[in-house]
Amino acid sequence: MPLPKNEYLSEVWKDGIFDNKVVFCTGGAGTICSAQVRAMVHLGANACIIGRNVEKTENMAKDIATARKGAKVLGLGGVDVRKPEALHEAAEKCVEELGAIDFVIAGAAGNFLAPMNQISSNAFKSVMDIDVLGSWNTIKATLPHLLESAAKHKTDGKTPPPKGTGGRIIFVSATLHYAGTPMQSHVSVAKAGVDAMAHAVAIEQGPLGITSNVISPGPIGGTEGMARLSRTDNAQESMKNVPLGRFGTVKEIADATVYLFSDAGNYVNGEILVVDGGAWHTSTIG
Ligand code: HXC
Repeated sequence: MPLPKNEYLSEVWKDGIFDNKVVFCTGGAGTICSAQVRAMVHLGANACIIGRNVEKTENMAKDIATARKGAKVLGLGGVDVRKPEALHEAAEKCVEELGAIDFVIAGAAGNFLAPMNQISSNAFKSVMDIDVLGSWNTIKATLPHLLESAAKHKTDGKTPPPKGTGGRIIFVSATLHYAGTPMQSHVSVAKAGVDAMAHAVAIEQGPLGITSNVISPGPIGGTEGMARLSRTDNAQESMKNVPLGRFGTVKEIADATVYLFSDAGNYVNGEILVVDGGAWHTSTIG
């Protein structure tokens, strides 16, 4: 059942702002990333979503395509971000079928709740490999296409780019490592690496017209992350740690995504946009 528009997109955004653009997203069948892509597709983009599970990824692609009449959404399942050659093939397939890659969302992540003394080296490495190496592999596979997209909008460097600029990256991180979170040592280290990667890409590739930013979602209701990682079944108790007094919605992450990829985000580069209702400033115990 497709989500109604008011479930994933604010009315402030205008139809067509991403016409003729293509978004490539790893982890695209997940609750947060699928909402990010859905919003982009609604506003004109075509999309390629990548996932490990074939059926889940293909079904999600079909579902996202219902966001706009005529939308093309490719679902490439069986792709593990830990395998660089698989990502290269996926990026080539995306360009072959959809013509370009203008925007990238590096969203694939792996996580579980466990105290440090119950995490083996291999378990730690699995999360590092999915989150850090996987994000790196995603950028390496798509960068040539992003550079092509950015080059279409190259200016003299003194004036802002024209409407509809491409060549933009969003890494999906987390807030776990900003204050410190028990039972999340592995993913805290991994997401700190993801933040650092976004900064490195921003300064190295910025001169070529690429922007690279991070969205760090806090507690977002109804997501796989919340289901897997909540340390209490008492939602009311958890919400006490959020200054805004509620969990966030996937729509609020989609809105942040549209902002960073739209012309409104032209001059934002190397930033971390935390979307958590102010939660990490208070406490991470909950
Ligand atoms: C301790 C665990 C464990 C657990 C797995 N392992 N679960 N150790 N506690 N609960 C260990 C295994 O025993 C193994 O180590 C190692 O991790 C690798 O496990 P595999 O199952 O072989 O690996 P793999 O199939 O690659 O799975 C990777 C995974 C898994 C990350 C471990 O959980 C996974 O695929 N998750 C699906 C994706 C996911 O997590 N999505 C949610 C993202 S939410 P040994 O030593 O036995 O070999 C998210 C939000 C973050 O990221 C922010 C939230 C606020």
